[in-house]
Amino acid sequence: MIDMGSKELYELATRYMPGGVSSPVRAYKPYPFYARGGRGSRIYDVDGNEYIDYCLAYGPLILGHAHEEVKDAVIAQLDRGWLFGTPHEGEIELAKRIIALYRSIEMLRFVNTGSEATMAGIRLARGFTGRNKIIKIEGGFHGAHDGVLVKAGSGATTFGIPDSRGVPRDMVKNTLQVSFNDASQLGSVLEANAGDVAAVIIEPVMGNVGPIPPEDGYLDEVRRLTREHDVLLIFDEVITGFRLAPGGAQEYYNVVPDITILGKIAGGGFPIGIVGARRSIMELVAPVGGVYQAGTFSGNPVTITAGLKTIEILERDNVLTRLNALGDSIRAALRDLLHDAGVEAYVSGVGSMFKVFFSPSGSAVKNYSDALRCDRERYMRLFHKMLAGGVFLPPSQFETNFISFAHTDEDIEKTIEAYKSCITDL
Ligand SMILES: Cc1ncc(COP(=O)(O)O)c(C=O)c1O
Repeated sequence: MIDMGSKELYELATRYMPGGVSSPVRAYKPYPFYARGGRGSRIYDVDGNEYIDYCLAYGPLILGHAHEEVKDAVIAQLDRGWLFGTPHEGEIELAKRIIALYRSIEMLRFVNTGSEATMAGIRLARGFTGRNKIIKIEGGFHGAHDGVLVKAGSGATTFGIPDSRGVPRDMVKNTLQVSFNDASQLGSVLEANAGDVAAVIIEPVMGNVGPIPPEDGYLDEVRRLTREHDVLLIFDEVITGFRLAPGGAQEYYNVVPDITILGKIAGGGFPIGIVGARRSIMELVAPVGGVYQAGTFSGNPVTITAGLKTIEILERDNVLTRLNALGDSIRAALRDLLHDAGVEAYVSGVGSMFKVFFSPSGSAVKNYSDALRCDRERYMRLFHKMLAGGVFLPPSQFETNFISFAHTDEDIEKTIEAYKSCITDL
């Protein structure tokens, strides 16, 4: 171990890694804190500080840090071995659980990250339809691969590079963009590209420009339009899966896509991605069909074990009922607090996802361009003050705050107090 504080570690890290980090959004000024550990709702840094964590590794840690039962299951699996390169029973068990919960899924393929899963899902949609174009939502983030790095949210937007250098124009010429919560625009683009579009890929709740829920009826309309144009609908539920409802946003909003992408929570804190769909689509995947997809670490026994245990606890302890209620109460408390303090800002979110947007005059944030109008510097001042007050929010106006099952009522009260003490003075 290197006996240094976060500042020194960061300086050292920048010598060896671009920006000192392994993923861009983790870098913020003047330097990120270095984690020493995490337990329950808390994350601890090497400088001796303790924070109530609402970043939660950007979503996977729905049970909080280092959940004992997940840890025990993982340790037991480690005893049996951690990588086989052959099929193993756990894959069947987890596949069965997921298929029972997700109406759109009859078969699935395990991969290692959400990025890999969306890449495979889009390839599958193209293979199934024989068409090339896809439609994505402006500000939607589906991982860091070429075809979707156009007007991409998350770190790409935070760092002002939503269209990455190094992506050949040819790679994105088939990626069309429409605005979230605007079904008529989607209808027009589908019309204008009739016969050429393989799929619409959408986060049912936008999660990478801050949480933006769909307006009433929007997802139904997206479903209707994609059916009408015989285009596959891909729900990227990497964030919403196992969070809004056990069966994801498709259960919560009662809209069934053709292809579902899962990740984050499904691996219980270990790397995972999942592509699932009905049998007729999935049977196109190799070795049964001609759409190629493969991975050395896919279906990793440790990940599968952690995912299974996490899903078991979510269901057994009725976790999402509590989390969704906590989300409602934290959003209501934040709205009251902003109102009482006379601060113009917009509180967004659904279920256990929430965010304060510093939008102009506190106007509603319904899509990417609304999100881009928010005052990011003001958000970063809030971020630093909250951190100083012992609360770790994601270090970007464009990332979602998450609540975990480990967050107590007292944690929430402390958090509201922390917002109260700094919200007026930004
Ligand atoms: C909606 C969505 N899709 C895909 C991804 C990519 O997942 P991963 O980071 O596991 O590659 C993310 C990551 O944040 C995401 O939020």
